[in-house]
Amino acid sequence: MTDAKLDELAARLLHHGAEKLSPGASVVPSIVPAAVFHLPGIPSNAPYQYGRFHNPTWEALEEALGLLEDAETILFPSGMAAIAALMFATVANGERVLIPSDGYYATRALADQFLKPLGALIEERATAKFLDDGFAGFKLVLVETPSNPGLDVCDIAAAARAAKQAGALLAVDNTTMTPLGQRPLTLGADAVVCADTKAINGHSDTLMGHVATRDGALAARLRDWRKFSGTIAGPFEAWLVHRGLETLEVRFARMCSSAATIADRLAASKKLVALRYPGLASDPAFGIAKRQMSTFGTLISLTLRDQIAAERFIETCPLIQPSTSFGGVRTCAERRARWGDAVAEGFIRLSIGLEPVEVLWRALSETLDTV
Ligand SMILES: Cc1ncc(COP(=O)(O)O)c(C=O)c1O
Repeated sequence: MTDAKLDELAARLLHHGAEKLSPGASVVPSIVPAAVFHLPGIPSNAPYQYGRFHNPTWEALEEALGLLEDAETILFPSGMAAIAALMFATVANGERVLIPSDGYYATRALADQFLKPLGALIEERATAKFLDDGFAGFKLVLVETPSNPGLDVCDIAAAARAAKQAGALLAVDNTTMTPLGQRPLTLGADAVVCADTKAINGHSDTLMGHVATRDGALAARLRDWRKFSGTIAGPFEAWLVHRGLETLEVRFARMCSSAATIADRLAASKKLVALRYPGLASDPAFGIAKRQMSTFGTLISLTLRDQIAAERFIETCPLIQPSTSFGGVRTCAERRARWGDAVAEGFIRLSIGLEPVEVLWRALSETLDTV
């Protein structure tokens, strides 16, 4: 999608739903904390029946996210709940599932500990080599690009072609980019999963997730999964994410621009053993990233010489919040080896926040000088 079209989408997002307002109505969605709705007679005559089936506050957020995704969007209470919904709604006993070996670890844990015992066959592949052996025989292929935390990328359009040829369903975890940075459905994927906990909400105060798809049957199945498994979002949390989403475009643009500036400057630092940022022309992911992403994201992976140097950098930099997430307004970082990711002890995932870039760079570079 061109920058002009993305701008148009961001503008429309701020006015979505206005056409439904009657005089005196609140311009922002209401929080509707209802478990039960007034329901005399035939249930299907009422727009709302029971709080596990639907909720007006979820719907406001689903419509806003759906506008950005240009697809039907089903809300879940976390990114993992969205991924679980996708897996359990699409995979049966004896079917093969392909997931990244170097993506978010909880996706592997979920597949291994809960899908595999039900008879699904789970296989893993590195993101950078995801297309190498094709997808023949797979029911579901889930790719994460750029991968968290290594920031490798996979060619989504090529993956979609291979999946189509193999009769597999292709889903893309778009958490690191959001629909403003990368559009997997337009590139041919069947479904997008996203942890709205990250940049979409952006304020580190609630978890949320969604699946978006243009396949009506899949959307209906996901809605049934939500209804019968009871994996539902709280109305207040949905309202918070709706509010966060309204400023996504401006936050994401600033964070991506700062990340690009900082990655560029880090590339000159003698303190780094390794650096990954898909927007650096020297990065192995740059070619594909430039083709399929409209910006290069808010995450930088950097490796310092060892655990001690990495911990000191994270803990002494006054503008780094040590925490295990990304996409929020505060710059934050963590050493991923502490969770068992297959990375060097000194590997840091740095999530660039909203601090003015020169102030942030000064804090980062002065701290780097001391480690
Ligand atoms: C790429 C990716 N997908 C999914 C998730 C899961 O999101 P949540 O923590 O909201 O369940 C995360 C969380 O870090 C993630 O990084």
